[in-house]
Amino acid sequence: MAKTGKLELVMAALKARERAVAPYSKFKVGAALLTSKGEIITGANVESASYGLTCCAERIALFKALTEGKNNFVAVAVVARAPGAPMPCGACRQLLAEYATDAKVWVADSKSPRQIKEFTVRELLPAAFLEVPK
Ligand code: THU
Repeated sequence: MAKTGKLELVMAALKARERAVAPYSKFKVGAALLTSKGEIITGANVESASYGLTCCAERIALFKALTEGKNNFVAVAVVARAPGAPMPCGACRQLLAEYATDAKVWVADSKSPRQIKEFTVRELLPAAFLEVPK
């Protein structure tokens, strides 16, 4: 299988974004995770009338992947209509730090998906809380 590149993963997130359920904020976000085996797992944000129940695209993708037995994430792409590219929220950074520790984070504005910014999960959440002390 050919190695999945940045643009390909961003395009998968862009496509996943079409399935966002964001009637309240109208802010549609798509996410795509890439595993070391080359699998791509996507997600999009889902909002609730009880706003706090909303789940971000990154966590939907991560929860889907983990509950399908997929792990070993090498990258995650996040796409939304956001000038300069959308940045994962704090809650998603925590989950990424725990379950996608070594992943690259590729973010892009849906209007210019070829302009991809790259971060590491460690950069986005330094000194993360990673396990409950025994
Ligand atoms: N959202 C995401 O899906 N990912 C992020 O990293 C930031 C925020 C969603 C949650 C909510 O549906 C909408 O964007 C507005 O906050």
